[in-house]
Amino acid sequence: MLRDYLRVSDLTPDDLVRLLDLATALETEPHALHTLLEDEIVALYFAKPSTRTRVSFAVAIRRLGGVPEPLGANDLQLGRGETIEDTARVLSEYVRAFVIRTFAQDDVDRFANAASIPTVNALTDLHHPCQALADLLTLRERFGALAGLRVAYLGDGNNVSHSLMEAGALAGMHITVACPAAFAPDDDITRVAAASAMTHGGSITVTDDALAAVTGADAVYTDVWVSMGDPEKERHVRAAALAPFQVNAAVMARASREAVFLHCLPAHRGDEVTADVIDGPQSLVFKQAAKRLCTEQAVLALLLDRRLEGAVLEPSARGSS
Ligand code: CP
Ligand code: NVA
Repeated sequence: MLRDYLRVSDLTPDDLVRLLDLATALETEPHALHTLLEDEIVALYFAKPSTRTRVSFAVAIRRLGGVPEPLGANDLQLGRGETIEDTARVLSEYVRAFVIRTFAQDDVDRFANAASIPTVNALTDLHHPCQALADLLTLRERFGALAGLRVAYLGDGNNVSHSLMEAGALAGMHITVACPAAFAPDDDITRVAAASAMTHGGSITVTDDALAAVTGADAVYTDVWVSMGDPEKERHVRAAALAPFQVNAAVMARASREAVFLHCLPAHRGDEVTADVIDGPQSLVFKQAAKRLCTEQAVLALLLDRRLEGAVLEPSARGSS
């Protein structure tokens, strides 16, 4: 039973399919589950900026009949040293779920462990599991199926690349991350994702050969070179090291003729991707961003639906628990 969504590897392959199917259904009929939350509150805690995740979650909550409660890093006593565990216990008494974007994955895990409500990771330095659902849904819609698809991710081995590897592994996809050694994805995440991919018929490869990675790929994906939380003083070092991994027309020309371009956004045209690619005919970035809404609705629905079932138990059943 899925209790929280903290990273993609919390899911089984069946959970992933269920989430993507539910998201597709909700995209067609956005108000189909409009009574699920019945005016209850879902907290949205963002300690980092966000456009897509923050607003799509707020809309998703409304479409499920709930009310979003936006919270910033300076709004809570957390910022003055109250523990994550105490905060989690208290907020569990008030709200139905806690959506959190912050720095350390460990903080999200600690919150989830102490809370009695579902916790959803809206991005940490290590993972971006909600993004990966929108990525896979975009690809599934374009190609019909995910198993066997070849995705080349070029650039920084960051949170987005980690979640993409974990999701691609579950779906039996072939994910190649092309990056300089200094900015490679986390070793442990890569190793576990590679093992998972093998059991599901896919593969995970990390290489420093960008052109080999994109040759014949069905999709080329990139993300910013400097993520939120990365030291600003690294900007020049990163730009120099990552420049050979820029996605441009020459790179796209090596991919399959039907290849699509993906980017989680926000993008920096001229750095990780050129304007002609991101604004060109192969780019699906705005479809991908649009999918954040139905996938987040699906995550909340899947996590909260069982609790709703619990709440409508007969009084006798409740009394005996
Ligand atoms: N892709 C993504 O998570 O965007 P935001 O940072 O705007 O939420
Ligand atoms: N890797 C980026 C993703 C933003 C959605 C960051 O963490 O800043």
